[in-house]
Amino acid sequence: NKNLFFTNDIEESIDKAGIIFIAVNTPTKTKGEGKGMAADLTNIEKCARLIAKSSSSNKIIVEKSTAPVGTGKKIKSVLNSENSKIKFQIVSNPEFLAEGTAINDLMNPDRVLIGGEESEEGDKAVNTIANIYREWLPENKIILTNLWSSELSKLASNAFLAQRISSINSLSALCEKSGADIDEVSSAVGMDSRIGDKFLKVSIGFGGSCFKKDILNLVYLCRHYSLDEVAEYWLQILKINDFQKTRFSENVINELDNNVKNKIISILGWAFKKDTNDSRESGAIDISANLLTAGASLNIYDPMVSKSSIINDLTELWRTQEVDENIIQSRLKRVKLSNNIDESLYNSSCICVLTEWDEFFNYNWEKTKNRPEIIFDGRNFLDTNKLKIIFKKVISLGK
Ligand code: UGA
Repeated sequence: NKNLFFTNDIEESIDKAGIIFIAVNTPTKTKGEGKGMAADLTNIEKCARLIAKSSSSNKIIVEKSTAPVGTGKKIKSVLNSENSKIKFQIVSNPEFLAEGTAINDLMNPDRVLIGGEESEEGDKAVNTIANIYREWLPENKIILTNLWSSELSKLASNAFLAQRISSINSLSALCEKSGADIDEVSSAVGMDSRIGDKFLKVSIGFGGSCFKKDILNLVYLCRHYSLDEVAEYWLQILKINDFQKTRFSENVINELDNNVKNKIISILGWAFKKDTNDSRESGAIDISANLLTAGASLNIYDPMVSKSSIINDLTELWRTQEVDENIIQSRLKRVKLSNNIDESLYNSSCICVLTEWDEFFNYNWEKTKNRPEIIFDGRNFLDTNKLKIIFKKVISLGK
């Protein structure tokens, strides 16, 4: 039953298709109106133009890319203005897959959201898309909505997930001052079945290509409708995320007697979460940049992220901050990219574990001759009791 084909003849396959999924990326705008906040819809618009140009029969266009509320309407207006002879139905079917668990998320989703235009033809299109999912999902997992609800629900879901992480991270700062333990608070709060225990794990801050981008998108949308208080509410999640990263770097500097010049710090983990080589918006980038700016030298190791990506991430961050090119190069001279954990520990003053890789959890720290006395657990996932026997100081978040 072969039903998966590949082609690079885009025009022909568009014309043959009855349903077309647009799944291109929508990065945050780097110039023009909404710079640094709104989603750049250039790629979606290009797709819509190509579809309009290449179509000779009616089609359902599925908006799969995460895009701001109102994008469906925009796609429709591009399609209609470029090709008025063909009837296009726009359906929003947002993506809820997470990196590393995508196939499982597709086969066993919490829900599938399908939004369409409120008309007889809109209902028909929504039903056609729902039939695809009905092949393997029960009816109660398929939610049918209008176009705008579907688009907004995607942004809202990511904003809620990020909000939980910022909530727990903000409390970790309070725990450090007050003597409470964030892991105990998190499990006590999470046991309330109304709250639930997922996404309450303290960390150096959330990363990845989605949370920040989608919240900025939401904030931009609120401001567009003059809902400044609502915009500020969601923006605070990003402020706490930045605060957590700054706090972490400051704690490291404080622990090294407020002087990191000529000191080597081992950075273990660069990916934004384990089991991926993706480092977009990873907390490790900001933390390392802060430490390098303060004068430290870094030995960085990640099991999957390439050395060139690490250098590129730091360079790009500083370039967006308009740091002088000579200063960037002199800071990069203090970066050493290690091939394994052992190598990264050489001559270092402390270890910062920033990604929850199994390799770090399972590592036999005892066997290293060259280990420093201090280890920071940026994810509270290491076996603290075991480490306390080996290191003079084991510093976890929110303790
Ligand atoms: C996220 C959402 O989880 C998906 O549902 C969504 O479809 C996807 O964005 C998207 O919009 O494309 P993803 O970015 O792959 O998926 O990563 P997550 O597993 O959500 O993790 C995001 C960040 O939050 C990571 O840096 C992770 O370490 C951090 N995190 C997660 C915490 O700090 N604490 C937690 O308790 C959970």
